[in-house]
Amino acid sequence: MEPMNRRKLLISAASIGGVGALAWYASRTATMKSMPGMDMAGGDMPGMNMGNASEKGGRVRELPTGSALPEIPRLKNDSGIAGNFIAQLEAATASHSFVPGLVTPVLAYNGSVPGAMIEVYEGDQLSIAFKNSIPGQASTIHWHGLDIPADQDGNPTHPVESGTGRTYAFTIPAGSAGSYWYHPHPHGLTAEQVYRGLAAPFIVRSKNDPLDAKLGDTVLFVSSISLNSDGTIAENTAADRFNGREGDHVLVNGAKQPVLSVQPGASRRYRIYNATNGRYLRIALDGHKMTLVGTDGGLLAAPIRNLEEILLAPAERAEVVIDFQNKTGRFALNSMPYERGWMGRDKPAATILPLMTFEVAGASVSSIAVPEKLRDIAPLGEPASVKRIVLNETMGMANGAMTMEFLIDQKSFDMNRVDLRSKVGEVELWEISNTTDMDHPLHIHGTQFQVVEREINGSKKPQSFLAWKDTVNIVSKEIVRLKVRHSLPGLRMYHCHILEHEDNGMMGQLDVV
Ligand code: C2O
Ligand code: CU
Ligand code: CU
Repeated sequence: MEPMNRRKLLISAASIGGVGALAWYASRTATMKSMPGMDMAGGDMPGMNMGNASEKGGRVRELPTGSALPEIPRLKNDSGIAGNFIAQLEAATASHSFVPGLVTPVLAYNGSVPGAMIEVYEGDQLSIAFKNSIPGQASTIHWHGLDIPADQDGNPTHPVESGTGRTYAFTIPAGSAGSYWYHPHPHGLTAEQVYRGLAAPFIVRSKNDPLDAKLGDTVLFVSSISLNSDGTIAENTAADRFNGREGDHVLVNGAKQPVLSVQPGASRRYRIYNATNGRYLRIALDGHKMTLVGTDGGLLAAPIRNLEEILLAPAERAEVVIDFQNKTGRFALNSMPYERGWMGRDKPAATILPLMTFEVAGASVSSIAVPEKLRDIAPLGEPASVKRIVLNETMGMANGAMTMEFLIDQKSFDMNRVDLRSKVGEVELWEISNTTDMDHPLHIHGTQFQVVEREINGSKKPQSFLAWKDTVNIVSKEIVRLKVRHSLPGLRMYHCHILEHEDNGMMGQLDVV
């Protein structure tokens, strides 16, 4: 196994003074990650199996590109009362056309892929009647990132059986304005239901947004799709199950490489979601820098300017402001190569992948400043207790094939086991150590946390800015320390948000009492 090299950090340090602050976005080069001397041939064993040579025959290789960026439809609020949001969501099979002439059976919320965006204000009361019409599969709706009661949060322990329904009711906490999302969370079926189409943005707004409304506010919801040549969605391959499904085609708001027009000189606000099961997005815009204004749980305390790239692991979100220059032309928003560790065959080539194009054209407009201060974020104080969590992988051989499991603290997820206990309102320090050969984005339900430090090879880098996060990427061999506090009691999940890893068992249960 070759050593991992930390590559030079790729963000301009100018505005935040010091390299330590940048560690969060650090990228790296690493080689390794196929196991020399191990036969990765097929077999049929429990756990995950490396499988046979490429299973990717008979796929749709081209999708139409270049359409205007689709706007994600809003979920209609059936309530006439201010502060109330009442709606219905049905998960069901639907038909979608990704390629002219081919019909793709998908799973969709209310018939649309991605699902309709929920847009509410802090303090709003929601009541969402969910109907599961997915044939033969239980489902749930999980409100990713929101601090809401555990019994309303779509845990796998509260399945909604096929053909039945339930209502999710909760109130949006004050101060939680941010970019959340919703997706299914049934035991063992999350990855499949998401890659078949069930996921959507959930925006919480503040009545006092410090950013100028003239910046606009555009969601860029990144997902992916793999299609068989008959139009059906491809099943996961062994490579998908091991590494997380990256998808053959990356979509923004459901379209491949769409185009968004902006005026020269304009400043625009975007919320970028990584809603893929397992693809890392190292986002960079040709010829432009970005200002990071927010993370998973909303705005930063202060903007971080002049970023050349932003890494979004699966499930992470970033709010950015882009100042387009006074120069017309077409600029690609790309995902740059990122070495996140790859197990087995079918490692994708390290290429620059265009996600979408900004077309800068028309009359010039003047830019809009992002204020120096966005909001107050109080640091979570001294921790009352410490939790240490270790991400593990095990490899085995069975019938001449390699098998693999992804675990937390050497355990595979068990719905009937409580792994950790916490006290309501108590600040804890979590130390999460990734002993595996790949990166894993760790997600904790029902709260937002603050990353405080990253350590790799004994060298520690404090996180020098405050941000609310619900998912944090943990690089192979890295230790991440974060502070977290749960405000509500109940059973919460923590897991790798590479959804294939979650389904494979890389998940635990935290009982907050
Ligand atoms: Cu977005 Cu437990 O998930
Ligand atoms: Cu979640
Ligand atoms: Cu993982």
